[in-house]
Amino acid sequence: MPIEISVEKTKTPKTQPAPDNLGFGRYFSDHMLLCEYANEQWGQPRIVPYGPLPLDPGASVLHYGQALFEGMKAFRGEDGKVKLFRPQRNWARLTQGAERLAMKAPPEDIFMESIKKFTQVESNWVPSAKGTALYLRPTLIGTEGFLGVRPSNNYLFYVIASPVGGYYGEGIEAVKIWVEKKYSRSAPGGIGAVKAGGNYASSLLAAVDAKKKGYSQVMWLDSSQHRFVEEVGTMNVFFVIDGKVITPDLGGTILPGVMRDSTIQTLKMMGKTVEERKISIDEILMAQERGLLTEVFGTGTAASVSPVGQLGFEDRTITINDGRPGPIARELYATLTDIQYSRKADELGWTLEV
Ligand SMILES: Cc1ncc(COP(=O)(O)O)c(C=O)c1O
Repeated sequence: MPIEISVEKTKTPKTQPAPDNLGFGRYFSDHMLLCEYANEQWGQPRIVPYGPLPLDPGASVLHYGQALFEGMKAFRGEDGKVKLFRPQRNWARLTQGAERLAMKAPPEDIFMESIKKFTQVESNWVPSAKGTALYLRPTLIGTEGFLGVRPSNNYLFYVIASPVGGYYGEGIEAVKIWVEKKYSRSAPGGIGAVKAGGNYASSLLAAVDAKKKGYSQVMWLDSSQHRFVEEVGTMNVFFVIDGKVITPDLGGTILPGVMRDSTIQTLKMMGKTVEERKISIDEILMAQERGLLTEVFGTGTAASVSPVGQLGFEDRTITINDGRPGPIARELYATLTDIQYSRKADELGWTLEV
């Protein structure tokens, strides 16, 4: 069936926020895209004015957490064109998540056409100030009203959008991270490798506690021994030790980030050695003591590349590179954002013009 996306334009467009004070996820654009799955098939997507969703109070998303989401950005390049960054990877991850949560994901053509058309309709919401973007939030929820514990028969795929600010003003800044030993994010055989809403619900308390101690996010360790590093808040994490870049391997408990993969490929093109393997907190502390730990940084769609200037672990504080962004994180940030904002040729075909 050919995909035909209907568009109902809002009669009351919103006043757009000032580009210098967007923050993250505070404002929503004028429209949303909706697409329903019922009677074992996907219907046609439709774009309608942004507003509340009618939802059966018995819907499986509200009781058993059948909820998945994605995070991606539309960038306005210096040439004025709007481009998405590796959107097929978001579709692939949503599909893997749907399989794990026994949900139905929209097929690739519905996802891709929906994202493209929706971004075109909202293109006046893609900001152009330095470092800004239109953040897209594709979401998939179980909507059937039924209290037996089994997968929903009905689903809603929807997309909303939020203009977001650059994480950094003039340059990139380093953040402080708390290494978490009490709580765990994910366990082997669990749902840590997919973008399930429940993963974020279980992470909130640790993040609140870390904020009280003065840290901006937590670094998660493995759930059984609390020794091996997994990831950081909403980012994958990289360590530079003795000139080599090390990142935890994807063992089923870590989210496979789009930026993680892009970072590994970019670092290799920069001529760096990248190791994907287990890395323990003891190895990091020892490397620090021997003066070999030169950089730590996180990668993710929201913050792009985020250097870590300080790690808090038990009663110790470790300062990395005097609390400043290191050269590898800087070069990586420049290279990736140059591709995203069309300042550099996209040799790997990562961007998609809408
Ligand atoms: C838990 C977690 N890890 C890693 C990432 C980074 O993934 P990506 O690079 O696809 O944004 C995110 C953000 O989506 C996340 O929520």
